[in-house]
Amino acid sequence: MTEPTILAIESSCDETSAAVIRGGRVLSNIIATQAVHEQYGGVVPELASRAHQQNIIPVVTQALLTANVDKSELNAVAFTRGPGLLGALLVGCSFAKSFALGLGIPLIEVNHMQAHILAHFIDDPKPSFPFLCLTVSGGHTQIVRVNNYLDMQIIGQTTDDAVGEAFDKTAKMLGLPYPGGPMLDKTAAKGNPDAFEFPVGNMPEYNYSFSGIKTSVLYFLRDKVKENPDFVQENLADICASVQKTLIKTLLKKLVKASKDLGIKEVAIAGGVSANSGLRQALQDYAKKHNWNVYIPAFQYCTDNAAMIAMSAHFQYLKGDFATQYISPEPRLKF
Ligand code: KG4
Ligand code: ZN
Repeated sequence: MTEPTILAIESSCDETSAAVIRGGRVLSNIIATQAVHEQYGGVVPELASRAHQQNIIPVVTQALLTANVDKSELNAVAFTRGPGLLGALLVGCSFAKSFALGLGIPLIEVNHMQAHILAHFIDDPKPSFPFLCLTVSGGHTQIVRVNNYLDMQIIGQTTDDAVGEAFDKTAKMLGLPYPGGPMLDKTAAKGNPDAFEFPVGNMPEYNYSFSGIKTSVLYFLRDKVKENPDFVQENLADICASVQKTLIKTLLKKLVKASKDLGIKEVAIAGGVSANSGLRQALQDYAKKHNWNVYIPAFQYCTDNAAMIAMSAHFQYLKGDFATQYISPEPRLKF
């Protein structure tokens, strides 16, 4: 079977998503975003699990309908095994296991972080191997050397917070509503990125640290608000633009080092933070400066989606990489 038809499920955090892929072409990608977390200013794991439970059947039904595929035509069912929230992963995993068992077809377990990278193979242009991928999300910040579809090596990563967390926590300190990252991005577009200075993280090799910048923003705001209680309101866009510039500079500094050291000029970004307009623009600018070929995913494939899970499942199916019914989710899954 070289043209397998696969149903893929994503439920690692706060998006319930299902996609259908046939012969490596995505036929549908349905995403139900969970609005319930907004009032809490962040994802509440227990509520995420309950919402996945409610969303999963309608989302899968819609994915099959949109793809115009009957469940009898499926060759495999794939799901996100991890990393992610345990209760959230359990919903997708249990559903996929039951569905595969009922249909008598194979099960495929997918690594969410690998899938973010493989989102680059959904549409053209596709990177050629080997390439470097800066994977930036709410839980991870990694530089990955991608040798082949299923052969990847993490060469550097954050030693504390993920960059998505730095975006979200800064947004929260500034009183911006959830989800913080996209709101900070939007506000930054109206500000001056050189208005304020924050320290650029400096870790050995290709590693990152984002807890320092988070603390420096906290103290900066505390001191400024002491002098002028309206400081944040009066300077909101400039603060957002300055913090965003610092985070991007920190990210790209290590990517430049990795590219130089390894002699790889194929450079990609992936994960939720790759939706950031400042990062997308900066990558284009660096491409000119460093002679890189850069790959930036379409917006719909940056944040969590099942199309990327389906893409990984496609390559795993061709390799015969199947899971058994004894599999469980793994919140800290590595690759
Ligand atoms: O990949 P993702 O959807 O979920 C995880 O696997 O974590 O990434 C979510 C992260 C959140 O921290 C969110 O604030 C951030 O991606 N994010 C952004 C933007 N869009 C999403 N951060 C900055 N600018 C954006 N436009
Ligand atoms: Zn993700």
